[in-house]
Order: sequence, then C-alpha cells, then structure tokens
Amino acid sequence: MVLSGRTKTFLGESRRNFYTTGAVLPSGMALAREVTKHLITPHREPLRILEAGPGTGPVTRMIAKRMIPGDTLDAVEINSAFAQAMRDLVARDPGFDSTRDRIRVIEADLLTLAPSGDYDAIICGLPFNNFDPELVRKLFDAMEGLLKSGGRLSYFEYWAIRTLKSPFVGSQMRQRLKGIGNLTGEIRKRMGASTRLILANFPPALIHHMIKD
Ligand SMILES: C[S@@+](CC[C@H](N)C(=O)[O-])C[C@H]1O[C@@H](n2cnc3c(N)ncnc32)[C@H](O)[C@@H]1O
Repeated sequence: MVLSGRTKTFLGESRRNFYTTGAVLPSGMALAREVTKHLITPHREPLRILEAGPGTGPVTRMIAKRMIPGDTLDAVEINSAFAQAMRDLVARDPGFDSTRDRIRVIEADLLTLAPSGDYDAIICGLPFNNFDPELVRKLFDAMEGLLKSGGRLSYFEYWAIRTLKSPFVGSQMRQRLKGIGNLTGEIRKRMGASTRLILANFPPALIHHMIKD
C-alpha cells in the first residue's frame, strides 16, 4: 500500500503524541461530509468558521470545498508537525485555490484562544476520550466562549469506544471514561444535540451537531 505524505505524518504523530492525536488514521470522507453538513445550507450568509484539531486536514478540505464567498476559516492545531502539514496543504493544494486567502492555520492550544464569541460555527476533531473530564469541560467551555449565540458546534467521537474499552481497563481509567460520557452527555442534552452514526469510517464515528443558546 502506498501511503501519502500526510498519512505518514499522521501515523508518526499518532505514535509520538497519541494523547493529543487520539486516532491512528485521519478521518475519512463520509465523516468529513457529515461533520461539515451545515455548511451546505442553501442561500446562507457568510460564516466565521473555526476548526479545532485539523490534524492533516481531511475535514479542512471538506470545509474549504463547502465555503462560499465571504466565509473565513481559522484552523487551530496544537501539534507543530500537523500545523506545518496544514500550512503546506493550504498553500499548495489546488483544492484551496479559491479559499486559501481566507484560511488561517493557528498553531496553538484551543484553550489559549480568547473567548471572542464571534464564530458562527465550530467543527471539532479533538480526542476527548483521551482527556480527563476536567479538561474536556474546559475545552467545551472554551468552544462555547468562542461561539456566537445561535452558533453551531459539530464534533465527532469514535462509536462505542468508551463502552468497548471499559471492561479491559483499570478502575481509574473506567471512572475517567464514565466521567467523560456523563459530562458530554449533559452538554449534548443542554445544547439539543442531534447525532448521526457514520459506519463508513475507521473507526465508525458518532457525529454530534448542537447549537449555543
Ligand atoms: C483525532 S485527531 C483529528 C484530526 C483530523 N481533524 C481528522 O479528523 O483526521 C485530533 C486532533 O486534535 C489536535 N488537538 C488535540 N488537542 C488540541 C488542543 N487542545 N488544541 C488544538 N488542537 C488539538 C491533535 O493534534 C489532532 O490534530
């Protein structure tokens, strides 16, 4: 099998930084289509879009494809190898010809962004299941602080991963996974999430779409 440079970067970073990467492969097209589906609303106004954790850019490509004139995209990435891969992708790939001057790659931890409240949409690929519930809460608070009222948050998580892992891990990890499940469940309920299962991804993923009050 011939792997692209970006897939090799992803595999390498997955090995070196699994805690922040949280996946062994970049997301597939079906997931990218679903997590960006609100961008194809007909006759919509231009949006300020934030992508959290673009990695090597499979979701970013789909965002760029679905951007309309006037849309802008900020892609915030904590890992410098991924941020560099993203800068190269946006600068060179013809898929970004009509959008690159409206896309910024920001090499930073999402938590360091000021809670500007001026994004219309956040599309998030952060690996919440690797983090402590307290950090997960901070990340969701940060995203809510960045969103406008009425703005949309779409994120994905791997299907049933907490349930599948739980019998094989120690009690501390089981408690951590349970805490994440409870917390994200409460947030989805409060924000009226709608959820879709995408089986055509490795691993299969749940995509959640929700709106800030
Ligand atoms: C599961 S990967 C998703 C990558 C890509 N969106 C995809 O779907 O293939 C998680 C990404 O989130 C990034 N990340 C993790 N924590 C972050 C943080 N606090 N701020 C910004 N990016 C972060 C990782 O470096 C990685 O690129």
